[in-house]
Amino acid sequence: MNKLAPSILAANFAALGEDIRKAEEAGAEYLHIDVMDGHFVPSLSFGMPIMESIRKNSVMVFDVHLMIDNPDQYIKAFAEAGADIITVHAEACTHLNRTVAAIKEAGAKACVALNPATPLTELEYILEDLDMVLLMTVNPGFGGQKYIESCTRKIQELRKMITDRGLETDIEVDGGIKLNNLQKVLDAGANIIVAGSAVFAGDISKNVRDFMKVLTE
Ligand code: DX5
Ligand code: ZN
Repeated sequence: MNKLAPSILAANFAALGEDIRKAEEAGAEYLHIDVMDGHFVPSLSFGMPIMESIRKNSVMVFDVHLMIDNPDQYIKAFAEAGADIITVHAEACTHLNRTVAAIKEAGAKACVALNPATPLTELEYILEDLDMVLLMTVNPGFGGQKYIESCTRKIQELRKMITDRGLETDIEVDGGIKLNNLQKVLDAGANIIVAGSAVFAGDISKNVRDFMKVLTE
């Protein structure tokens, strides 16, 4: 099933609850929450307190993307703050199996993210344990960047790897996804679509409906 995961990084934080409500009412089922630590990525964003607040007013699937070093120390806290899916970066984990096991133990679904230049071979011995793989289609750290074209082949190759193993793992794509390249990433095999600036700039309800039209075709 295709799903839209609007990234609140591009929302208006002065009216965050309202922006989220618009996206939810227009049909988005996931909410993508970008956590940045100023180490793994250059920028800082937000953490557990904001999540706890928005959790009280939303039944969306909270899809938490941890762009942080040493994610292990925060997994339990994010699960308790309401994360349904927790994503860690392969590049930030020394003991990835242990981290993935900790996510599941905390009661969340486990996802591993790869930066654009990180090869799929990183997933060779962990894929079976994952609910989802996040392929970054920009270098993480900021919203509003341009989609990196070489990622299309990477999505195709990952979908083949998943199918060849008889799995049904979700593939999430994140970064630079707009209406004009949405069909391309879907055709390549992605089924969970993150969109930040394409959803939260302008008319949020219309933007979500336009995405949902393509996603449910
Ligand atoms: C980038 C974040 C993305 C970002 C996407 O580091 O992981 O989720 O918010 O924003 P857009 O859709 O504007 O590229
Ligand atoms: Zn993200």
